[in-house]
Amino acid sequence: MQIFKEKQPLIATLQSYKSTGNTLGLVPTMGALHQGHLSLVKQALQECEIVVVSIFVNPTQFDNPNDLEKYPRTLEQDINLLKQAHDNIIVFAPNASELYGDKVISEQFDFQGLENVMEGKYRNGHFDGVGTIIKLFFTIIEPDKAFFGEKDFQQLQIIRKLTEILELPVEIVGCPIEREESGLARSSRNERLSSLSREKAAFIYNTLLKSRELFGTKSADYVTQWVIDEFKNHPFLELEYFEIADTRTLKKANRKQKGANYRAFIAAYADDIRLIDNMPLNN
Ligand code: PAF
Repeated sequence: MQIFKEKQPLIATLQSYKSTGNTLGLVPTMGALHQGHLSLVKQALQECEIVVVSIFVNPTQFDNPNDLEKYPRTLEQDINLLKQAHDNIIVFAPNASELYGDKVISEQFDFQGLENVMEGKYRNGHFDGVGTIIKLFFTIIEPDKAFFGEKDFQQLQIIRKLTEILELPVEIVGCPIEREESGLARSSRNERLSSLSREKAAFIYNTLLKSRELFGTKSADYVTQWVIDEFKNHPFLELEYFEIADTRTLKKANRKQKGANYRAFIAAYADDIRLIDNMPLNN
């Protein structure tokens, strides 16, 4: 396994691979790798000859300094996990100045409204930070394909928009959500939950399942109110938002439109840990 901390030697190595016609895949991560990340790596290895996994906790996408500080940093463990997955993965684990120089700041983007709803409403500047780091990675690595999990579905749609706006020749591949046995979506944050809260947090997934069932016969408003009521008296979980939105535009569903696809999106707190999840409702 090759591990790079600096971009110049990485670029040189990738150029030599690409010059012989190999397809290059990128899996961007913030480390603390789990089965969800490994499923992205697996998919990338199926579709590309060369796979780069970036490991970088991106400061510009955190609006809460406490969250940034507490974010797990487990590089050695991550590398061991990747080694078990495949010998031939290239790891890029730079520090902030290697990527940002001496100004660790976000570029401002106009994602045509996708950035203003849900996560964007609750995490100030988050998607400018994500857009900035992904643009940097795409410029340095120049992947043919990049792999992102559908757990961060809004992020996935924003990265698709980023490549459209910047006309970048990279295919964005969305990969299905990996779940724990209980149904809880896999996330690095799950490690910070107590075992009781981890068990109880499956309520998020079960509520999504039930809302999908209800959406078959009821309006988006009805289902939303039902979810709010379900969380009101929950002893462990606190709902931040639940929204039913058009899958493509992420605009809130008012009346169901014929031919449109909808998704339910949720953010909730357990043990002060913020968890997100989503589910397609009619496709
Ligand atoms: O989803 C993540 O882990 C991050 O937002 C990403 C895409 C690696 C950018 O820092």
